[in-house]
Amino acid sequence: MGEKIFIGVAWPYANSPLHIGQIAGAYLPPDIFARYHRMKGNEVLMVSGSDQHGTPITIRAEQEGKSPAEIAGSYHKQFLESWQKFGITFDLFTTTGTANHAEVAQDIFLTLLDKGYIYKDKGSQPFCPECKRFLPDRYIEGICPHCDDTGARGDQCDQCGRPLNTIELVEPRCGICSAAPEFRESEHFFLKLNAFENKLITWVRQQKHWKPNVYNFTLSYLENGLKDRAITRDINWGVPLPLEGYDGKRLYVWFEAVIGYLSASKEWAKSTGDSEKWREFWQGEAKSYYFIGKDNIPFHTIIWPAMLMGYGGLNLPYDVPANEYLTIECKKLSSSRNWAVWLPDYLSHYDPDPLRYLLSANMPETGDTNFSWREFVRRNNDELVATYGNLVQRVLTFVYRNFDGCVPEYSKYNEIHEYLESLDTNKDMRKDLVDIDEQSINEIEDAKELLFREVGDLISKCKFRQAMLCIMKKAQETNQYLDRKSPWKVIKQDKQAAADSLYIALYVISCLKTALYPFLPFSSQKLHRMLGFDGNIEDYGWQPLVPEPGQKMLPPEPLFKKLDEELIVEETARLGK
Ligand code: MF3
Ligand code: ZN
Repeated sequence: MGEKIFIGVAWPYANSPLHIGQIAGAYLPPDIFARYHRMKGNEVLMVSGSDQHGTPITIRAEQEGKSPAEIAGSYHKQFLESWQKFGITFDLFTTTGTANHAEVAQDIFLTLLDKGYIYKDKGSQPFCPECKRFLPDRYIEGICPHCDDTGARGDQCDQCGRPLNTIELVEPRCGICSAAPEFRESEHFFLKLNAFENKLITWVRQQKHWKPNVYNFTLSYLENGLKDRAITRDINWGVPLPLEGYDGKRLYVWFEAVIGYLSASKEWAKSTGDSEKWREFWQGEAKSYYFIGKDNIPFHTIIWPAMLMGYGGLNLPYDVPANEYLTIECKKLSSSRNWAVWLPDYLSHYDPDPLRYLLSANMPETGDTNFSWREFVRRNNDELVATYGNLVQRVLTFVYRNFDGCVPEYSKYNEIHEYLESLDTNKDMRKDLVDIDEQSINEIEDAKELLFREVGDLISKCKFRQAMLCIMKKAQETNQYLDRKSPWKVIKQDKQAAADSLYIALYVISCLKTALYPFLPFSSQKLHRMLGFDGNIEDYGWQPLVPEPGQKMLPPEPLFKKLDEELIVEETARLGK
């Protein structure tokens, strides 16, 4: 039986199109991970949805003179289109606006209240005397009490990543008119985070498999002491409180958005016809992974685990492989200044795989990385087209022309396959293959050991960059193998010798397309068909897929297009405009 893998993916605010920083940080990694596990025969549940509450949405709605619901609805639709075109394969991408979500969030609220982990108290809320209104967290700016950054906001400091209580900001100003806000007392509900401090520290210390940045950030945060947090706000856009007499209040967006992981799992279960099926991914042996950007770390390694501990009976995160940031042309990405590459925009001009490739090879896994259009064109042309694409193109066209559009006969077919079968159990068989040259044995051994065992191991540890590097190195080596064997020359004297090296190359290509499938699903599927295999590549599993001699191929077409250098100037000029 396969493993059960729950994959929670950060819920994007439905207030702007997706940009490639979000894609590199939080959306491409879980898709690679999910596709790999599905191929391995594991059961995956990957969910997320539009985060439609909170001030990011109400600010945008005010700016555009629309209702928050209209804004959230139109971006939600756009997100769904982007996932489809870019190949991000959620099992469910819902929204926090559903009745189901409100129900699940209210259930957690009531349970925590009942258990004494939520309590009622007076809290001060910032009120702007100029604007004459209570200000939501993000409308307040000031100095971070932890790192002294001057651009901190009432909910969080983007500089040091710490969540804040608005009252902690030094020299607070209204984000709309810059007046100094007053703090007015109002009754609120608080999450008793402090009660979980020791339990969280003990738990986090056991998570040695977390990335160092996630582990260290979380632990140092906890060791500084946990303050209780208000989880209600005086607003009218959000999930209502499940109690009489609080009509003017809503659950704080951060409290309810993380509950989306559970509510989406329940919604998904209902859609399968077995409304209890979500339990398979939340209880027992199942492992849960949360893919997020680094600004969301404390919410997933502290606040959500505390809520889960308080609620009881559900699995805590197994891993939170948060990514760092992607800079654009060496500058910090900024939506408001349009220093960004927008995904819908990208997809209306280019194919998905070249961007999936670049972002995988250059993923901000251990530190910030940079996107530049020059690098995009260079990696597309020199690596995708010239290394991998060219390998495929020259082998497939040559075979197609010279062997009647079929996979050629291989003289050592039986020996090689017997050997491959025995690789795991009997390494000694290698000596029986003396009449097959060393290079050819290396090629096929590597295809199995490196592309499946090693790459698989890297992907399962969320080391996507390194996995991609391994695969491309193999493609390069196979090009060198062919250069040495030169079947295009050899064929004139010895057709069988040419057939043999071409068969080896086809075999490795078939392995490459499977290993690349989690990263480059569109071109892998296309190549799968060109090699003469039927159906969906994912169904063939994470293992070498052997081309059968005589197998009918499809007329080869290039997998990737060479990109014109001119686009570098054009695209770069559009940044910041
Ligand atoms: N919408 C928020 C953000 O983009 C939170 C995402 S993760 C969630 O930063 F699980 F909490 F929703
Ligand atoms: Zn700070």
